[in-house]
Amino acid sequence: MQTQICEINGQSLKMAKHILESEGAVAFPTETVYGLGGDARSDAAVAKIYEIKGRPSDNPLIVHVHKDYDITQLIYDEQTYAAALRKAFLPGPLTLVYNSKGRVSSKVSCGLNTLAIRVPSHVGAQRFLRYVDMPIAAPSANISKHISPVSAQHVYEDLQGRIELILDGGRCSGGIESTVCDVTGEYPVVLRAGLISVEMIASVVGRCEIYIPRGGEQVRSPGMKYKHYAPHCKTRLFDASELPLAVSEFERLSAEGGKIYVLCSEDIKNKFPADRVLNLGKTEHEMAANLYELLHEGEKCAETIIAILPKKKDGVMAGVINRLSKACADK
Ligand code: TXA
Ligand code: MG
Repeated sequence: MQTQICEINGQSLKMAKHILESEGAVAFPTETVYGLGGDARSDAAVAKIYEIKGRPSDNPLIVHVHKDYDITQLIYDEQTYAAALRKAFLPGPLTLVYNSKGRVSSKVSCGLNTLAIRVPSHVGAQRFLRYVDMPIAAPSANISKHISPVSAQHVYEDLQGRIELILDGGRCSGGIESTVCDVTGEYPVVLRAGLISVEMIASVVGRCEIYIPRGGEQVRSPGMKYKHYAPHCKTRLFDASELPLAVSEFERLSAEGGKIYVLCSEDIKNKFPADRVLNLGKTEHEMAANLYELLHEGEKCAETIIAILPKKKDGVMAGVINRLSKACADK
């Protein structure tokens, strides 16, 4: 199968709709990462998404809709605080998990009675969702466990030959996946950290907790239990407080003649005696936006990436730290 990368225009949207109506999958941009979308109402389309990615069949998908889509078609009784979160943050990088009416394929939520819904803010994503006029089930458009794609080229590198069409909406500005927040209970519970932080959610509705799976409990967000976001090269992970250890590891590996790159924030870079640096930048939004781009770049040039966790751990950095830790857990 030939894979085409097309700008978003009348012609490519028509092609996308045709593929989706034939129960196929299309890659499309969002403000976080690229998605691999299929008709959420079709068992065959949803099964195909899992197959293309090699995704474990118990890790549920997010349904994407345009901003004027009536979500009450898909979900039961939205709580007042959930409506307030929608008003404050959507369209944007926040996914809300509701009680499902079961109107989409049961494969989307892997048999759970909940449904994750996302309204992306990316102009191209909105245009695509409105044009195709169907709820689109979409995971990130990468091979399962690899780094999520933040450009059409990244999608191509992972999925060429497996899909027909990649809609190109440029580089994703957000850079890490949406915050996933369960809104079925009395107060919101964040299942996956992202660009909409726990603090931002709490500031709108007064209370927000972070989900921590208890021993023996079935995980509420099955995606949490899988290894994720990993580059193909070797990686080593250090905390900011272990800088001297990271430096000596860098020197040891470099002396052995390996191509060793350091992935760290700007302030740590200034203290690190390395010329091969993948610089995450200064602000939390910069670091989120650069993370996957740099991991993609790093895996192409480095034998080993030595990643150093930034000092700041809260706010948007909770999401960055979560992804960076999962990507670079020592291997
Ligand atoms: O930014 C994003 O969210 C991107 C773009 C494409 O929208 N999508 C994305 O999808 O990251 P994916 O499939 O890579 O991650 C979906 C996450 C997983 O951690 C999954 O477990 C969780 O959402 N999820 C989906 N449905 C759920 C549900 N009903 N209950 C709990 N967690 C759910
Ligand atoms: Mg993913």
